[in-house]
Amino acid sequence: MENFISKRAVRTPLSGIKKFSERALALGNVIRLELGEPDFDTPDFIKEAAKEAMDKGYTHYTAIAGIPELREAIAEKLMEENGIEVNPESEILVTCGGYHAVFAAFNILLDPGDEIILTDPAWSAYFSVAKFVGAKIVYCPLHEDLGFKPDIGELESKISDRTKLIVLNTPQNPTGAILDRKLLEEIADIIRKRDVILLSDEVYEKIIFDGEKHFSIASNPDVKDKVISVFSFSKSYAMTGWRVGYVIANPIFIGHMRKIVSISTVCASSIAQYAALAALKGPQDSVKEMVREYEYRRDLIVSELNKISGVKCFKPRGAFYVFPDFSEISKDSMSLAMHILEKARVVTVPGVIFGPKVGEGHLRISFATSRENLREAVRRIREIVPEL
Ligand SMILES: Cc1ncc(COP(=O)(O)O)c(C=O)c1O
Repeated sequence: MENFISKRAVRTPLSGIKKFSERALALGNVIRLELGEPDFDTPDFIKEAAKEAMDKGYTHYTAIAGIPELREAIAEKLMEENGIEVNPESEILVTCGGYHAVFAAFNILLDPGDEIILTDPAWSAYFSVAKFVGAKIVYCPLHEDLGFKPDIGELESKISDRTKLIVLNTPQNPTGAILDRKLLEEIADIIRKRDVILLSDEVYEKIIFDGEKHFSIASNPDVKDKVISVFSFSKSYAMTGWRVGYVIANPIFIGHMRKIVSISTVCASSIAQYAALAALKGPQDSVKEMVREYEYRRDLIVSELNKISGVKCFKPRGAFYVFPDFSEISKDSMSLAMHILEKARVVTVPGVIFGPKVGEGHLRISFATSRENLREAVRRIREIVPEL
């Protein structure tokens, strides 16, 4: 049957994380630190809004770009929180999560052979979608000693005549690093001068610590037209299963991305869109509470990991991942993660999945789980490290 499969399906890898999840499920009795989603439940008022939408019969297809009320609310939020002025009619597209927005953006911009600049490390799905569309991946390292940030000169040197798209993510999966305003303004300068588009993935915008402020590069009017910004309800409101996100871009890009949404899902779920509307309009206390708890866990896991001899753990400023460097213990993150899974019954993700050079030697550990799980997981890892 394999001979029937298209080349692009064959070359598209399945998420490397899934392999570890599947093995974990087979083993049973494991602590799962591989998951990229909040462990909290969706706040009740959001669920109520979904029930009300069903009761009112809002159970049909919506406009491709999303219900007008949600787009209006998104435009208000973008103005107030991100400093970005957008036209809700022509510059916003509601999608089935941020993933779908990334998929749509890559599909409208990249032809086979076009170059895309991805950071090493970066969210692994960018690599999969880039491969799906046949783009050539050019890696730009994030430097751990710079706080997992790119060197500006190096980033610019990666741009060639074939580069169409640069992808940046802040707060970042898998490192938890954030790109500050000063750096993003320097990057904006490059984008303005050069013939490239930037995709700014901001799905973790609200999960940010130490009083830091998230900065959206599209708020700079000089580059707004060349930036595609991706947002989501998944992480901010613990709504991963609802599948709602949105993308903002210039009307030409949105017009083309609408076609991708139309031919793949028609629209995001009507019920989930009403839930997302409630999330934006309702009280934001639950977001603050979740972030407070993530920050506590961040401090806990960083300090516990740094007690393991040979492990260096960078302190993330956002998202809910740590990306400790285990290279003194093992340079092969795939075998290391498998060993930790088999012996310590703790599921982590090998860093190499997020980047071949910088990512290697690291593990991604999610702290979207209870404090008890985190303490116990590190205790188990510490116990087996001497065997390595
Ligand atoms: C960096 C990044 N972008 C986008 C997404 C997509 O999330 P969703 O499709 O649930 O909005 C994820 C999910 O893990 C992510 O880590």
